[in-house]
Amino acid sequence: MNFESYNPTKLIFGAGALSRLGEVASEYGKKALIVTGGGSVKRTGVFDRAVESLKSAGVAYAECAGVEPNPRISSVRRGVKAAREESCDMVIAIGGGSAMDASKVIAAGVLYDGDPWDLIGHGQANWVIPTQALPIITVPTMAATGSEMNEGAVISNEDSKIKSFVSATCLFPKVALADPELTVTLPKDQTAYGVCDIITHVTEGYFNGVDGTPIQDRFAEGVIINAIEWGRKAVADGNDLEARAQVQWASIVALNGWVQAGVHMLAPVHMIEHALSAHHDITHGAGLAIVNPAWMRFAAKVRPERFAQFAQRVFGLSPEGKDDMTLAMEGIDAFVEFLRSIGCPTRLSEVGIGDELFEQYAEDAKLVVHDGNGNLAGRPPLTKDDIVEILRSAL
Ligand SMILES: [Fe+2]
Repeated sequence: MNFESYNPTKLIFGAGALSRLGEVASEYGKKALIVTGGGSVKRTGVFDRAVESLKSAGVAYAECAGVEPNPRISSVRRGVKAAREESCDMVIAIGGGSAMDASKVIAAGVLYDGDPWDLIGHGQANWVIPTQALPIITVPTMAATGSEMNEGAVISNEDSKIKSFVSATCLFPKVALADPELTVTLPKDQTAYGVCDIITHVTEGYFNGVDGTPIQDRFAEGVIINAIEWGRKAVADGNDLEARAQVQWASIVALNGWVQAGVHMLAPVHMIEHALSAHHDITHGAGLAIVNPAWMRFAAKVRPERFAQFAQRVFGLSPEGKDDMTLAMEGIDAFVEFLRSIGCPTRLSEVGIGDELFEQYAEDAKLVVHDGNGNLAGRPPLTKDDIVEILRSAL
């Protein structure tokens, strides 16, 4: 298909990159709002090192700390208020996906007169597409969302229990400062969930995209194979800097637009997971580890050859004497086995979710992204009953 590709974010990648934060930030302003999550950046000393670097470059700062996992719109509102009161002229995210996503919407919210929730809701009728934002700098402390080098942000509304997203050109960070040394303190479970998130960013396009994308197919398979190989090592030994660096790079490549170019990516697995985590506050990557294999088994029925290709190329399974569907299912089994081997849950019961709200999740998932018939967009498009069936198979 015809496509446009655009990514203006400058990437500074490598161990020790954090020390360049001040020099980088001084190009964009004099006072930064630093957005952080639950406090690990302070415990590990990353925050102090960042502040030191800023100070030495003459950049002052204010703080918006305590952005929760599954970042809430109330935290965004708090950040907007702080940035205005402190006259900040840029936003620096130091943390995981939640700090980075919140920082993007804060940066746009400062320059928007209404409620920042207006800016969330990609594709919805009343969506206000953000067109301007303060300069954003991202300093990821985990490898997962790829938010450091893209224009997307996922935000939850705690009142309506809707988790939705925004994607807009003005939200591209000016600079992503990716220092894999900052990820070595990440615990095993979070590391594993991050690996699952990375892989799922790629599988969404790989399984839901258009036909006839041979280069993107190989690109996607390469990212998945490396995320599996190095993800395993990063989970086994958190201090393996080489593994941390490879996983960090995989997370960036998985969702900075390169793998998705010309693919027409749809993300039904993410939409279903978002509905779950909006209600239950489970970690995004853990939710994906449960939903993705269940969705794959459902979707393989309409596109078995694609899933057979996945089995053969990613897991090296032999097609000898098997039809596509058999090979497809073996590939999905191998994927589940990998997820379990790094400690991810793969059933809803493992995270304490039952079937009570299945219909609600299905409605919520369709609400955010749907096709002309009101079905959740993907290959195949999913009706409410389809989504319930997928969730039921994951109990
Ligand atoms: Fe994700």
